[in-house]
Amino acid sequence: MTAKPHQRERAVEFVRDLRRYLEQLREDGTEYLLIARGKDSDPAPAVPRSAAARPPPLRQVEEAVRRCRRCRLAGTRKQSVPGEGGMRKSVMFVGEGPGEQEDLSGRPFVGRAGKLLDKMIAAIGLSRDDVYITNIVKCRPPGNRDPKPDEVVACWPYLEKQIAVLSPKVLVALGSPAAKTLLDTDEGISRLRGKVHDFEGTPLIATYHPAFLLRAYTVENRTKAWEDMKLVRKTLDGK
Ligand code: URA
Repeated sequence: MTAKPHQRERAVEFVRDLRRYLEQLREDGTEYLLIARGKDSDPAPAVPRSAAARPPPLRQVEEAVRRCRRCRLAGTRKQSVPGEGGMRKSVMFVGEGPGEQEDLSGRPFVGRAGKLLDKMIAAIGLSRDDVYITNIVKCRPPGNRDPKPDEVVACWPYLEKQIAVLSPKVLVALGSPAAKTLLDTDEGISRLRGKVHDFEGTPLIATYHPAFLLRAYTVENRTKAWEDMKLVRKTLDGK
């Protein structure tokens, strides 16, 4: 018996929806294995991987980011940059988005701004291995333009999950785009820095982006960034 054209269209649509659903599950970190088909060619049931075979939750988010095609930046990136670091000291730094060096290496803050960030982290007695470093958007905007609002929205679930999984003691927003996104405000970095905010129960400190400090390397800006970093340390130490 041959299927009528409208039945075929409905079947194609069903398969397309199913594929999209499975892709979304995979992006959200739920992996499924297909077991071998029977002779009757019934589609095999989806079987969740055993918990032991599943990567830890942070790795699942990072893998989802590496495969992500949620926005136009997937079309221009070389590779996405999920984030990296240890969490021994439970501090999470959030920048704006990968630049050229990060796009090439797949690692956050490895260019000139990254070198300055390393110094800022070292200045409060920590190292990259003590902290987690990531960005608001995980793919490089072409020509290092600002990320567009829909790109930030598309990428937000990844950052939200990273924060939920890592549960940092202190969040540090680097620069205006990160601070504005995390604090859901239109205020600029000059007004947001210098105090402890709250992100859903986690202390959040906003400071200047290291790339801005490199452009405007004045005593005044460096002093303010140093004050912010001391505030990060004090908050981490519960003082
Ligand atoms: N600037 C950022 O905001 N993030 C990076 O990863 C590198 C530079």
